[in-house]
Amino acid sequence: MTFATRTLAPTTLTAGGLLLRPLRESDEPAVAEALRDADILRWAAGLATVQAPVHERAAVWLGPRAAGWATGDAYFAITDGTTGEFHGALSVREINRLPDQAVVGYWVTPRSRGRGAARTALDAAARWALAAPEDGGLGVHRIALDHVLANVASCRVAAAAGFRLEGVMRDYFKEPSGRRHDAHLHARLATDRPE
Ligand SMILES: CC(C)(COP(=O)(O)OP(=O)(O)OC[C@H]1O[C@@H](n2cnc3c(N)ncnc32)[C@H](O)[C@@H]1OP(=O)(O)O)[C@@H](O)C(=O)NCCC(=O)NCCS
Repeated sequence: MTFATRTLAPTTLTAGGLLLRPLRESDEPAVAEALRDADILRWAAGLATVQAPVHERAAVWLGPRAAGWATGDAYFAITDGTTGEFHGALSVREINRLPDQAVVGYWVTPRSRGRGAARTALDAAARWALAAPEDGGLGVHRIALDHVLANVASCRVAAAAGFRLEGVMRDYFKEPSGRRHDAHLHARLATDRPE
């Protein structure tokens, strides 16, 4: 569901050798490969994707996201700035559902993990979203993210990208199996200074 009052101009961002560019239909083979990963399915793919037949999952996941820019949500592919290799995906969504706020989510393919891709991409997307419109940004004031307590890697990514821990949301996340998890709430504000 989109809450934005405008479409978003498709945007590319560069940081640390990565290129963040809009997801597109031609990413389907790479997305299909990524959606074989149990952790992406468990923590980041969403119920509609997981409940779809395996051979349809990539299309179910990618379709609304590749089209998301037209309805006010930013869905990036995280790629190698030189080779174009697909490393993962990152979303900035719910833009202005609450005034001047947005929510981020991300995943990285198993083979691309442990090299700082998530941290670098998250920081770049946050800088863009928090920058003023006259500087090419979205002009939001606060960006939130959540992860289940068991997802320690995501917690480290969030903290490294300047998303401070704000608290624990009890039974916030329901995984596809139906099991509920407490989740950390993190956020980064436009006015935050590096800790
Ligand atoms: C979480 C995820 C996005 C991290 O991607 P990544 O590109 O490997 O992340 P980075 O390399 O930027 O950083 C990973 C950090 O987690 C740490 N880490 C990785 N696995 C870990 C584990 N099992 N336990 C503790 N820390 C771990 C790394 O050491 C690193 O921290 P450091 O920089 O302080 O050393 C990736 O593992 C993923 O896609 N997981 C499945 C989907 C998911 O969980 N998405 C997030 C939903 S909230």
